[in-house]
Amino acid sequence: MECPPDRLPLVRHWGSDLGPLDEEAARAVCLIGERSGRLSGELDARPPSLVPEAWTGWTGRPGLVGSRNGRDWSPRFSGVSVRIGGTEAPSYTEAGAAGLEVAADDAEGLLRLTLTVEMLASGLLRVRAGLVNGGGTYDLQELSVALPVPTHAAELIDFSGRWGMERQAQRLEFAVGAHVRENRRGRTGLDSAYLLHATEPGSDFVGGETWAVHVAWSGNHRHVAEHDSTGIRLLSGGEHLLPGELRLAEGEGYTGPWVYASYGDGLDRVAHRFHSHLRSRPGHVSPRRPVTLNTWEAVYFDHDEKRLLELARLAAEVGVERFVLDDGWFGGRRHSRAGLGDWTVSPDAWPHGLQPLVNAVLEHGMEFGLWVEPEMVNLDSDLARAHPEWITAARSELPVEQRNQHVLDLSLPDCYEAVRRQLLAILDEYPISFLKWDHNRDHVEAGVRPRGGVPGVHARTAAAYRLLAEVRAAHPGLEIESCAAGGGRVDLGILEHTDRVWVSDVSDPLERQRLLRWTGQLLPTELMGSHIASPRSHTTSRTHDLSFRGATALFGHLGVEWDLGATTPEDRAELAAWITLYKEYRELIHTGTLWRGPDPGEGIWSQGVVAGDGTKGLYSLTSLTWCPTGAPPSARLRGLDAHRRYRVRPLTVGSPAAGFSAPAWWDEQGVVVPGSALARVGLPVPVMHPEQTVLVLAERVD
Ligand code: GLA
Repeated sequence: MECPPDRLPLVRHWGSDLGPLDEEAARAVCLIGERSGRLSGELDARPPSLVPEAWTGWTGRPGLVGSRNGRDWSPRFSGVSVRIGGTEAPSYTEAGAAGLEVAADDAEGLLRLTLTVEMLASGLLRVRAGLVNGGGTYDLQELSVALPVPTHAAELIDFSGRWGMERQAQRLEFAVGAHVRENRRGRTGLDSAYLLHATEPGSDFVGGETWAVHVAWSGNHRHVAEHDSTGIRLLSGGEHLLPGELRLAEGEGYTGPWVYASYGDGLDRVAHRFHSHLRSRPGHVSPRRPVTLNTWEAVYFDHDEKRLLELARLAAEVGVERFVLDDGWFGGRRHSRAGLGDWTVSPDAWPHGLQPLVNAVLEHGMEFGLWVEPEMVNLDSDLARAHPEWITAARSELPVEQRNQHVLDLSLPDCYEAVRRQLLAILDEYPISFLKWDHNRDHVEAGVRPRGGVPGVHARTAAAYRLLAEVRAAHPGLEIESCAAGGGRVDLGILEHTDRVWVSDVSDPLERQRLLRWTGQLLPTELMGSHIASPRSHTTSRTHDLSFRGATALFGHLGVEWDLGATTPEDRAELAAWITLYKEYRELIHTGTLWRGPDPGEGIWSQGVVAGDGTKGLYSLTSLTWCPTGAPPSARLRGLDAHRRYRVRPLTVGSPAAGFSAPAWWDEQGVVVPGSALARVGLPVPVMHPEQTVLVLAERVD
């Protein structure tokens, strides 16, 4: 970074490790070349800083947008002070993992900008900008931070999605113009951009220089890739503010969300930095993740005590360690049209309260978990009837409905308090170890009714974080899952307050292969809820063998989403074997490094997790379709130590994959092969029918 005293800092390089640089070399290196009006007809411009400003001649999107009634809209920040680890920065230093605090003033515009730039031990970079208003009312519309990427980052990869099909990767040319992913859903979104990458064309999991940004915010937000006609390419991000949402009075300030940035040669290495960052957090989950059963697809709203007691018994029998009672236990919630907002146990559904079920769950040696959706309300609820003003709306009419529900305004202190009290009461009453915290609708036209409908998404997002933090502080050890109609709230903001995400409402393993693969671009396996569901998927109606369902779910935090009451003893025995396998390998799966691909082709996907010390790796080889050539290719096993030898053997549970035909090396004793050969040539994949997975274990022998 270059931090001149008279302008905001510039990032000269981020990405590959350049080794030690002396001052002269550091001054020469720059991702963006100088471009100072050398050609007639060009502005005498300077490269944009972390918060691009128009005064430098930048004609692209400014980092700060706002004004005082049309004045003070074009800032020039100078008088820059830079501190590293609390002390004034020397004129030249190499700091490694460190934090930089920057403060700068726009004396004319009466604004102070702060920037925190942190290089984390994981190698992630994160930046956050703040603004303090020094006079009059300042209407803040946008505060984003931008990072330059080089010209050869000529392709973009980000994500889209919908319910049940979250995180569909899209690739496009990084052409001149702006690729703007603006979210106005008030939650991260089933279609969220998730991570915006700029990459060398043709990059994949294995290779290709790749830069990525991620906005750690669960409300409205924006990711932008911008390429201007002078050749500058920026990746930027920040919160998306609605009109008039943040009017800063004199002395008031705003701090934007962290914008995370990662780099790697190949998408895997970009992901690894996020994984090691998340794993380095002090409260990160234990790799011995408890096998979870969630009742949703087993019983839906049919909360019958006898049936659920039987489900709990069967769950314990197959090895489940956490039993989660999903939607339907409270208020008038016998269907999705009523009850949200009334967080007391329904005497209709549970005449004896939840105690008999909770007791049974605990007696079976399992933890008890409960579903809640505290930010939402049905019109048919006691809460909505008593406080219609707590329902968000921008006009006199209510916003369009989604799943028969509306958004509660947690930014209103009384509303917040009412929800908080109900949540704490239920947590005090029952020994609850886990909350599945859902958020099933978008915030559209989400105004604050008692304040004439002014936008309130920013305040509501902050309130949701506060509520999560308060609940956790009151119940240390409580785990919380972030669910939003499946994977609609997956970001590093919510993960500061939660312990896993529900990846998707679709547990069909064919869809889950893709969902886990791409959700893993940000999250390590232990944070992705991954359940074995019934043979015929409730969402897609496809039918799959348990071997495919089990081997797919294994690469996440394993659970069950299946009506065990409708299973045969043989089904349960095989399910129990999968659970046993997970328990045996969960520490490897949840601490190892994830390597996706290279996909051998012919409809086969491969992936693996390799222990940090390189002693073993667990791989899956999945046939998505018929192999068009009839002769499956070889799969290269990545991540092992090239200089050591490994015994590679199949791991089989229950019946073999359908249409299975073993290659010569497929043997219980395994075959001993050097890591270098496994990585470069690999081993032939067995012949399998479509939609089958086999597992392979590689263990170091020397
Ligand atoms: C959402 C969740 C599901 C389930 C239902 C309950 O759709 O994603 O897993 O909890 O709500 O209503």
